[in-house]
Amino acid sequence: TTPILMDCDPGHDDAIALVMAHRSPAIDLRAVTTVCGNATIERTTANTLRILNLIGCDAPVYQGCANPLVRDLVLGTADGPSGLDGSPYLPEPGTLQTDIHAVDFLAQTLMSAPEPMVIVATGPLTNLGMLFLKHPETIPKIARIISMGGAFWRRDETITPTEFNIFCDPEAAQIVFDSGVDVLMVGLDVTMKVLVEAPQFETLAKIDTDLGRVVHDWLRYYEKLHRGQMGIGGAMHDPLALALVIDPTLVRSRPAHVAVDLTGTYMFGATVADFWNERGIPANVQVASEVDADRFFELLWSLIRD
Ligand code: BDR
Ligand code: CA
Repeated sequence: TTPILMDCDPGHDDAIALVMAHRSPAIDLRAVTTVCGNATIERTTANTLRILNLIGCDAPVYQGCANPLVRDLVLGTADGPSGLDGSPYLPEPGTLQTDIHAVDFLAQTLMSAPEPMVIVATGPLTNLGMLFLKHPETIPKIARIISMGGAFWRRDETITPTEFNIFCDPEAAQIVFDSGVDVLMVGLDVTMKVLVEAPQFETLAKIDTDLGRVVHDWLRYYEKLHRGQMGIGGAMHDPLALALVIDPTLVRSRPAHVAVDLTGTYMFGATVADFWNERGIPANVQVASEVDADRFFELLWSLIRD
């Protein structure tokens, strides 16, 4: 069992990642920290508390940064105004841990943990960027950060040059990439190959459990919005990042030096990866490059089936 900390901004796909983290026997979800992104911090926190209540998960929740490190907050648009629209069965939020800010909680937890810990980050990297600015002593206490973010190859015309989590807080992303921590970037190149479409809805419709029905409703809403905005099914961005704790073989990855475009006009917030080492700078990130979508879905269904 791998103990993890999850930093997220729910978001329908963050919600499914939380479900997987709670349900998988391979994961011990120690705590959840929230960040602004898909919605304001108040909403992503309330959504997190509602989701955990719904699934009976008692991991403590700590609220993190309300704004990106440098830029004004630009909210995501893929999940509706609440960040989790289309969810009729959500219970009231459970209790937020208010004694300490998420960034300081992460610092305390990492410094007192017997072993370096894994962090799964499925929102903008603001909390982690702030953590490394405020508490650089935590850097060697992190075994790995698996981060949903970035777009790297752009061979596929369905991929925008910028990905939301990085675009939302590009300075924080650059700090995290350059921190020296082992970072696995799970970007649009792989997450947009893991799509919920008609065959997935067919399988999901047969999962006759309360959780199956909730996940079904989330995905219906999410898929419809995705199709309207991008003309494709619902991409399992954050669930794929989380799934890599359970089964790292779902993706292949390659090392690269990754820089974030912090000044560009049209490529602002893009993750520019140097796979051939033309910059002569050592790789700072492992970039996920290929994915086995079928095996991902088998794992997802197995975790919500019983
Ligand atoms: C990322 O942005 C958010 O909308 C999703 O939750 C995911 O983390 C995808 O670009
Ligand atoms: Ca997210």
